Amino acid sequence: MKCFSSLIERCRSRVQKSAPELKTRSQPESSNPSQVSKSSGSSSLQRSIPELYEERAHNVRVFTYWELRNATNDFSRLLKLGEGGFGSVYKGLIKRSDGHGDRIVVAIKKLNKDGMQGHKQWLAEVQFLGVVEHPNLVKLIGYCAVDGERGIQRLLVYEFMPNKTLEDHLLNRIFPVLPWQTRLKIILGAAQGLAYLHEELEVQVIYRDFKSSNVLLDEDFNPKLSDFGLAREGPADGRTHVSTAVMGTYGYAAPEYVQTGHLTTKSDVYSFGVVLYEILTGRSSLDRKRPRPEQKLLEWVKRFPPESKRFSMIMDPRLEDQYSLNAARKIAKLAGSCLCKHAKERPLMSQVVESLKQAIEGLEDGNTIQESADSCETHLVDSDENSDPVGNSKSANRRMSHLARLGENFNVVGKRRFMIVQTAKVS
Ligand SMILES: Nc1ncnc2c1ncn2[C@@H]1O[C@H](COP(=O)(O)OP(=O)(O)OP(=O)(O)O)[C@@H](O)[C@H]1O
Ligand SMILES: [Mg+2]
Repeated sequence: MKCFSSLIERCRSRVQKSAPELKTRSQPESSNPSQVSKSSGSSSLQRSIPELYEERAHNVRVFTYWELRNATNDFSRLLKLGEGGFGSVYKGLIKRSDGHGDRIVVAIKKLNKDGMQGHKQWLAEVQFLGVVEHPNLVKLIGYCAVDGERGIQRLLVYEFMPNKTLEDHLLNRIFPVLPWQTRLKIILGAAQGLAYLHEELEVQVIYRDFKSSNVLLDEDFNPKLSDFGLAREGPADGRTHVSTAVMGTYGYAAPEYVQTGHLTTKSDVYSFGVVLYEILTGRSSLDRKRPRPEQKLLEWVKRFPPESKRFSMIMDPRLEDQYSLNAARKIAKLAGSCLCKHAKERPLMSQVVESLKQAIEGLEDGNTIQESADSCETHLVDSDENSDPVGNSKSANRRMSHLARLGENFNVVGKRRFMIVQTAKVS
């Protein structure tokens, strides 16, 4: 907390001109002094994200508010690309860092939340995106932080992604149908991005907000994960999980995370399983406009197991049978393994990447998918009628609906976002 509050104090009533000072290790949710518990993960010798940021983030530019206001024609509604739970995103034009040549197109996110929570999410995004580098993660070009008399302003400047999001292309009929091969390419790239975060960095990173609207698409439909405001470092030496305030999006969050606040990389794997089913069906994880039995995607698809004859009935009709049924079955099995009730039984993202490659290449030797799907109890075959779509137990289900009623304790950050403000119960 110290680093956030001291930063804010130092910045008060002046424009911040230099990179945020990130010398201390990033702290847990401000309203929730959270603990780190049990085993596995990073070593104590390992550097934290703020330490890595100090070393690596030299290419992150610092913009003045005036520059970004100019870049977006005073945040013109005509240049607005979209709006999420954390703020509005605008298309903008900025000068190159060397000042020469044509200006470059960027996406500028202006956080709409005041106070510590907004600042924390902004800071997390600057820290994580300043450190990571992968073709399937969106590039952070720079940021702006102003603490003036009119309150605080926090902005982020990203590379511009011209083809909107995976969610747009799956659900919005104004876009042409997303062909099968493109869906596979997108989901494989997204899996590689997550695998990099979980397994290829010096620090393990838990993304915590994997969903189709956070998968941006470039001009060639290459996917890039965006929105690192909820990202967290994985557990430190000897621990199994990080305990946090529960935040995420309905329909994607892993049930054990919602119930206990225990966060692991396997929470991301669960969310990935949900998106796999979205890719197959062309449906949203939660769609209130459909008939009741079809509103919750995971509840609906469990009536069509991958090995059954009826399986093809879940496939997106917009594909008009232009897909490989064999690959689709394998992907559904893989989704089943990602959605295992017990987090430990879910595959690692590197295993998911391998399984996807096998499914895409049509290899018969897809043992990883078959074995993991068969050996775990998934929510798709869970006979508990009271399970909710993300496979939550009755208590988690109650917790969700209870929170939905509690205006003061339930902070709705976006249309389907949730944030449990009270301290997460740690069992
Ligand atoms: N780098 C980018 N390039 C182009 N468009 C972008 C970029 N980042 C975001 N957008 C657009 O802005 C929209 C809003 O993004 P944002 O991440 O704020 O919200 P969201 O993902 O829809 O919701 P949530 O707040 O729940 O994550 C996106 O749907 C996308 O169309
Ligand atoms: Mg988003």
